[in-house]
Amino acid sequence: MTEPFRLLFVCLGNICRSPAAEGVMRTLVEREGLAGRVTIRSAGTGGWHAGNLPDARMRSAAQNRGYNLQSRARQVTENDLHEHHLVLVMDEQNLREIRPYDRESQHAAKIRLFCEFCSDHDAAEVPDPYYGGEQGFEHVLDLLEDGCRGVIEHIRQQQGL
Ligand code: 4NP
Repeated sequence: MTEPFRLLFVCLGNICRSPAAEGVMRTLVEREGLAGRVTIRSAGTGGWHAGNLPDARMRSAAQNRGYNLQSRARQVTENDLHEHHLVLVMDEQNLREIRPYDRESQHAAKIRLFCEFCSDHDAAEVPDPYYGGEQGFEHVLDLLEDGCRGVIEHIRQQQGL
């Protein structure tokens, strides 16, 4: 049997966008009958919120759509880049900040912007909702639901599923 596809979502604080991506993707993976075929984790380029649950506003917006976010924040590590098959970052700043963890530039091809996988939205980035209002969290979820469908297709192709 093929080993599971290991997916990592990365944002800045690991309390808003990437834990929400993890929750959306987990639900979709189960719905698509891919449980056990995909592992899903998330991390932040910053470590300020390490150990914390996702932001209460993000948890509430996600819960309203049926996603229960329970991950604990952690900072990305060099090993994350070895361990995962695909590392999806939310914005260009994440991309700049994760690159130094790839010390020998051997993982560049697996680090990609999440929005590459969106098809219903023309966005280049999933914007940081932390300092904005409620609408920002809804917009994040809209983008995540769109892109995660594309990520499922990508994984099916990669794994021959
Ligand atoms: P995230 O949002 O990167 O989507 O988790 C943020 C969370 C916290 C901060 C910034 C962005 N912060 O500055 O503390």
